[in-house]
Amino acid sequence: MTTKPPPGPRGLPVVGNTHQWARDPCDFRERCAEEYGRVVNYEIIGWDAYMLTDPDDVKRVLEDTDTFPKHDSSTDKLREIVGDGLLTSGGDLWERQREAIQPAFFLSHIENYAEIMVERTADTTDRWRDGGTVDLRDEMMRTTLEILVEAMFGEDIDLQARGIYDAVEAMQRPLKPQNQPVTFLAPDWAPVPFLRRANRARDHLDAQVYDVLDARRRADADRDDLLAMLLDADAEMDAEQIRDEMLTFLFAGHETTALTLTYVWDLLSRNPDAEARLHDELAEVVDGRPTIEDVFEFEYAEAVVKEAMRLYPPAHEIRREPAEAVTFGEYEVPEGSMVLLPTWVLHRDDRFWDDPETFRPERFLDGEGRADRPEYAFFPFGGGPRRCIGQQFAMVEAQLVLATMAREWTLDRNYGDLELSAAVTLQPKGDVPVTTERR
Ligand code: HEM
Repeated sequence: MTTKPPPGPRGLPVVGNTHQWARDPCDFRERCAEEYGRVVNYEIIGWDAYMLTDPDDVKRVLEDTDTFPKHDSSTDKLREIVGDGLLTSGGDLWERQREAIQPAFFLSHIENYAEIMVERTADTTDRWRDGGTVDLRDEMMRTTLEILVEAMFGEDIDLQARGIYDAVEAMQRPLKPQNQPVTFLAPDWAPVPFLRRANRARDHLDAQVYDVLDARRRADADRDDLLAMLLDADAEMDAEQIRDEMLTFLFAGHETTALTLTYVWDLLSRNPDAEARLHDELAEVVDGRPTIEDVFEFEYAEAVVKEAMRLYPPAHEIRREPAEAVTFGEYEVPEGSMVLLPTWVLHRDDRFWDDPETFRPERFLDGEGRADRPEYAFFPFGGGPRRCIGQQFAMVEAQLVLATMAREWTLDRNYGDLELSAAVTLQPKGDVPVTTERR
């Protein structure tokens, strides 16, 4: 077969398509997919990007990590923040670490965290007032961070006193939508305030992790948190490696779940029928506080979480860098370019989803033609060897937080549609005020 370069939108000299993309990355990618089809070539922030819109091509890329390793220069920036943990490492180091850490995320272990998930959520709702207003995203962020830190280090860490909450926030700031162009384009010597704060926050978190590690090595207590699992892992990890893995979890392990919950609540608030059906299930399954056994019985609550991730995937695109020149059908993609797997686009593709813009959790229940859908029409947690290690943790957590909150509270968001902004994760633009109403 003769091959050719893939089509794509015409860009401007120097900036390429950055200006079209920056206006609304999700809309830009959807329009490109519609107009150009299977492979679309465009240029953003100096990167030669090839977006794939066929789920079988997505599968091929995610499952072949030798030909399609992570995109180097995107990962470099992240590495400056979180070091060489699972998210950013490659090759032998990644393989060893993944194998050593994987057991900590088996469902049998996640069950141990269910109580923490429910209790920290109850702490959040204890602060709410009937008829009060809170910021939805902030509440979900705080809750999921408290859960994660306790799951990682045990219950004796005071987030506030140790300045962990503020430091994690500062560490994530360079990758916020409005800061991303500066983060990626500013030279290392440039005195950018949020980059300096992020570096200081990283040093602070480093010190905190080492401090906990020291205390743990001295105490020799019998524990089953994540840190204990890393210390016990067969592969000997030095303190620096453990620190990098811990920073990676702090970075990767709470914001995405918090965003999922933000979108779940936003969608429920706009879809009273779905909310009523969720309450029917909660009334039937949950007796008192939700438990891990309840999660195993949930069907609709799980479908609600999945449908929210379909419409608003927190990881809205995945990037890889081909190690050699490759072809997809008749299209050539060069070595060293950026292959983009557009989760957002495939999750809203009407070839695989009826009425894709509509929130309808029922589509994830049995008997709704799920078998006809290609595997990679839905991939909020990625796939292949580098699939999200926290997938089950996040799914259990999202359902337990939702069930604990929804049993007693309704969160009402009468403020129009959410405006979104697509940086490394898909974020609401600005505040997300909700009224907390006791049921
Ligand atoms: C709804 C919540 C979450 C979403 C949507 C999500 C999404 C993702 C995605 C798409 C990837 C793959 C990235 C790629 O292939 O380039 C990933 C990887 C990863 N996630 Fe998650 N994640 C979530 C929750 C979590 C949690 C709770 C943790 C840890 C406690 C976690 C830790 C990680 C790590 C360490 C990796 C790197 C895995 C590797 O490369 O071996 N994530 N996540």
